[in-house]
Amino acid sequence: MEAYLLDFTNMLLRWLHVIAAIAWIGESIYFVMLDNSLTPPRDESTRKKGVFGEMWAVHGGGFYHNQKYATSPETLPSDLHWSFWKSYTTWLSGFALFVLLYMTNPGFYLVDPNSNWEWAASMTGWQANVTALVFLLLGWVVYNEMCKRISPNMERDGILSLAVAVLMVAVAYLSTQIFAGRAAFLLTGAVMATAMSANVFFWIIPGQRRMVKAMEAGEAPNPLDGKRGKQRSVHNTYFTLPVVLLMLSNHYSFMYSHELSWVIMSLFIFAGALIRQFFVVMHSGKIQPAYPAAGVALVLVSVWLAAPSGPAASDAVAAAEGPTLDEVHAIVTERCVACHSQQPTQPGFSSPPAGVVYDTPDQLLRQSQKTKQVVTSGYMPLGNMTNMTQKERDTIAAWEE
Ligand code: HEC
Repeated sequence: MEAYLLDFTNMLLRWLHVIAAIAWIGESIYFVMLDNSLTPPRDESTRKKGVFGEMWAVHGGGFYHNQKYATSPETLPSDLHWSFWKSYTTWLSGFALFVLLYMTNPGFYLVDPNSNWEWAASMTGWQANVTALVFLLLGWVVYNEMCKRISPNMERDGILSLAVAVLMVAVAYLSTQIFAGRAAFLLTGAVMATAMSANVFFWIIPGQRRMVKAMEAGEAPNPLDGKRGKQRSVHNTYFTLPVVLLMLSNHYSFMYSHELSWVIMSLFIFAGALIRQFFVVMHSGKIQPAYPAAGVALVLVSVWLAAPSGPAASDAVAAAEGPTLDEVHAIVTERCVACHSQQPTQPGFSSPPAGVVYDTPDQLLRQSQKTKQVVTSGYMPLGNMTNMTQKERDTIAAWEE
């Protein structure tokens, strides 16, 4: 019952998280489009009011006329529209999901018992939880310091972007060395998503508040606040596509159970940013297909990289006749069915994870390819909770159904 209620809470939180993220990212994409589509006002009197760009649009049966002020309007309306809750809700619900899903079961969701790093492979549950939180926090601190030091007055944008790209490759590498594959992808996405929300929380909104305050006091707002808000919001734009992919990667074990998963992850991060760049440029009236072409090329490289290699059966097993269905099912019953059953006996599971059930040999047969893949890659049993031996893995790899 308890596991069932947890599952239900998980589903509701995920629902909220996805909706909030759609609203936030949708708005962010809209404002980038708006900013890049602005044209100088046609009307002299509009220009005199301090408007530097405008956009006409038709949507939902009505006509809209957006205007952007070079600095600020003469008087501020009392009903100024602010946006921040979409961002905060996305982060808070995402963090709650992480706690509920990963931090309540760190032993098999966070720890990678096959890690090349001894200390990471032998972390206890709470050590893994603390490491994950520190990882998230450090990601933001390093990114934020980089922005402040490389670009204190919002100049050298190119160098800063390059530094952020290198940082993301480092995050991808470190996460895959320290954590289990699935958590590594999620945490890398979460480092970016945390930077996005923290940019809104620590810089963009406080900067806008200072600008409004200055105007109310009849002073000129500090232009650095506006520039910084813009710089951080441009970073957010390039983070969006990679973050969404990394969050979805959870469903695709071929991505995160690969030995070079950090390279695959990095390729996707750059591909996402390049594809986003195409749309950013397109809204200012230029079509530059080289960007998405480069993005697609990177995706193709990762298709090639992540392709499963042939089953690595040991000579001893390969030389003999392959195992029978019943022999394989006996192994699966011992090592997998605690979780993958219509009625799991493993505490914390109320239903078969990923809908995969191995109660009968027939059910195993229908999922033979996938089963071999997750067993040979070492992804299953999760955290090797059930102590599957290498010989058993080799036997399943050599199985010709
Ligand atoms: C401790 C519980 C547990 C054990 C034991 C376990 N699994 Fe899983 N398995 C899970 C969970 C949780 C998921 C869902 C993870 C996900 O969404 O990637 C999963 C997912 C899967 C999937 C779907 C993966 C995908 O990419 O969709 C397959 C196939 C699978 N397991 C096979 C096995 C096999 C074969 C064994 C035994 C060798 C095994 N599992 C042992 C918990 C377990």
